[in-house]
Amino acid sequence: MKNGVFITLEGGEGSGKSTQIRLLHQALSDAGTDVLMSREPGGTPQAERIRTLLLQRDSGSFDPLTEAMLLFAARREHLVDKIWPAIEKGQWVLSDRFADSSRVLQGYGMGLDMQVIESLYQMVAGEFQPNLTFIFDIDPEMGIGRSMKHLKATSNSTEATEDRYERMGLSFHQRLRTGFLEIAKKFPDRCVMIDATQDVQFVHQRMLEVIFSRFGVRGKEARYG
Ligand code: TYD
Repeated sequence: MKNGVFITLEGGEGSGKSTQIRLLHQALSDAGTDVLMSREPGGTPQAERIRTLLLQRDSGSFDPLTEAMLLFAARREHLVDKIWPAIEKGQWVLSDRFADSSRVLQGYGMGLDMQVIESLYQMVAGEFQPNLTFIFDIDPEMGIGRSMKHLKATSNSTEATEDRYERMGLSFHQRLRTGFLEIAKKFPDRCVMIDATQDVQFVHQRMLEVIFSRFGVRGKEARYG
C-alpha cells in the first residue's frame, strides 16, 4: 500500500463534526492534498442503500445485533469500494463517523457486547485502523439543543427523516459521551479529543495543527460561512 491517510471524525449530536469535515477537506485540498470526503453509514452507492434502510423514520426498529451487522455490512462496502482503493493510490480519506460509532452507539448505547462488535470489526476490516480519529466532545444537552435547531431549519430536507438516533433520551446520549471518552483512553495513539464547545474557526485550526504534527502536511486554513 502507498501512504494514503485515513482520518475519522466521531462524536455526539450537534458537535459540529459535519461542518469541520467540510472545512478540513477544503483546507487539505487547497494545500494540494488529494483528499476524499465520506461518511458512515454510507459512502458508496451500496452502503448508502443500507444507510437508507437504517435511518429512515419509517424503517421500524431492528434488533441491536441485526443493526450492528447492517452497519458493518455497509462498512465493508465502504472499505472495499472506496477507502482501501483510495489509500492504495496514496489519497487521503476523511470519514464522518466510522467504527468507533458502532463501539459507542451499539455497544455503550444499545448494550451490545463489545466482543461481538470487535469480532464484526475483525471480520470486516482485519487489522486495518484509521491513522487518526478526532473525537468531538460536547455536553449532550448542549449538543442536542444545537442539533434540534439544525433539524428545524432543515425540516423539508431528507435529513429530517434521519433523526432515528437523535430521538433517544438524554441518558442514552450521556452513555455515548462516556463511551467516546473511554475509547479515546483505550486508543490514545489514534484518538485526539476536540472540545466541541469552542468556536468553529478555533476547532478548525486545532485540527490543522494536529494534522501538521502527525503527517507534516500544513492545511490552508478554510473560512467558515
Ligand atoms: P447522521 O445524520 O449522519 O448523524 P450525525 O450527523 O450525528 O453523524 O446519521 C448517522 C446516524 O447513525 C447517527 O445517529 C449515528 C448512527 N450510527 C450508528 O449508530 N452506528 C454506526 O456505526 C454509525 C456509523 C452511525
